[in-house]
Amino acid sequence: MTVIKGFSKLSKEAKIEWIVANYLNGDEQAISFLKSYWHPDAPTQKLHDEFIENTITNFYLPFGIAPNFLIDNKMYCVPMAIEESSVVAAAAKSANFWLNRGGFRTQIISTEKIGHVHFIWKGENPTDLFNFFESVKPTLIANTNHITKNMQQRGGGILNLELINQTDKEPHYYQLKATFETCDSMGANFINSVLEEFSKILKEEIVHAIDLKEENRNIEVIMCILSNYTPNCIVRAEVSAPVSEMTESGDDMTGEYFTEKFCRAVRIAEIEPYRATTHNKGIMNGIDSVVLATGNDFRAVEASAHTYASRSGSYSSLTHAEVKDGIFRFWLDIPLALGTVGGLTNLHPMVKFAYRMLGNPNAQELMRITAVVGLAQNFSALRSLVTSGIQKGHMKMHLLNILNQLEATEEEKVKIVEHFKHNIVSYSAVVNIFKTIRGEVKSC
Ligand code: MEV
Repeated sequence: MTVIKGFSKLSKEAKIEWIVANYLNGDEQAISFLKSYWHPDAPTQKLHDEFIENTITNFYLPFGIAPNFLIDNKMYCVPMAIEESSVVAAAAKSANFWLNRGGFRTQIISTEKIGHVHFIWKGENPTDLFNFFESVKPTLIANTNHITKNMQQRGGGILNLELINQTDKEPHYYQLKATFETCDSMGANFINSVLEEFSKILKEEIVHAIDLKEENRNIEVIMCILSNYTPNCIVRAEVSAPVSEMTESGDDMTGEYFTEKFCRAVRIAEIEPYRATTHNKGIMNGIDSVVLATGNDFRAVEASAHTYASRSGSYSSLTHAEVKDGIFRFWLDIPLALGTVGGLTNLHPMVKFAYRMLGNPNAQELMRITAVVGLAQNFSALRSLVTSGIQKGHMKMHLLNILNQLEATEEEKVKIVEHFKHNIVSYSAVVNIFKTIRGEVKSC
């Protein structure tokens, strides 16, 4: 086992040399391989290097575009960063479908974020602590003003402070629960700074709480941290159209039959966690790729979405569908704590480009766009699933990956893509035609 101390202090070249010597059998080609992914433009490269510790090279993902999204009567070209072949195509297909049916509508339902000071207080009577908390609340607000004043000027800040007794779950465990409005920033750093200040104030003030018995005049802070679960930071995206219009030329289903099957598929995801997981994964294909392209925290968004999907006690679909009075309606409610200022948003060149293309949206507009892409993604997936099946489109998109893996030439690719316009794609079928074209096997 090779252990190194002070790895982070080595230069980028020295880090690579150490890895090559210790983990790649001294393979010198690995050095040029890693360097081939460096950005030749030095200032940009330095920026990327400094996003994290121990950067040795860049890791590329495709940056794709889904055009023709009509959202609240405004047209968008949506940036998506994702590796899965069919995702951008599915989003674009859905955008086109709904473009002719009034587009997508959205609604910001709420924008609150939450954070906690988790602490232990060993007094016998919780009411004493609640009384202390009420008396200290103005100090908590006033003495964090140096952190909150800029946010207040932007229309945000602390919205509410609450003491929560959790001693039925864990002995002596209480929470200071704070709610915040963080405007156009995701707010993690702001919230965590305020919470840490709260914990200091609580510890200082309780020492002087003469109404408490002397032995109860202290708290043990376990931790101060925002919650990535944001059930009060919700956006709704929806589409609707007469059932009779839910069909396109070439479809072999009527609008009635299609919407009936579609609603049944959504219902299955509402009641069946195995299906709900895959169903929501499809939604997150769209959400994550926009979140990534716009420099937001996709892990936070994922975590919150799945907790929200479980809020009834059973993991369920994030989308819902109905047919009422001849109108098909399909909608998504999702927590999205996004920021358009701070973090990577003003640093990453591709993220800055993504914002420019979107017309520099604020956080609420970005919530709307992102939710729409999630809904669009789910619509495309379900539309394929209840009609042709998913593999037809999926494998067609995957075809180029297989051809690249086989190291097909451009000429071979053109011939093979043409062949699969009329044939079902499978890995073995692609290999077979590829070998046939190369004269390695006889066609049967
Ligand atoms: C694949 O990445 C996503 C789907 O499986 C989603 C779904 O089944 O709804 C197609």
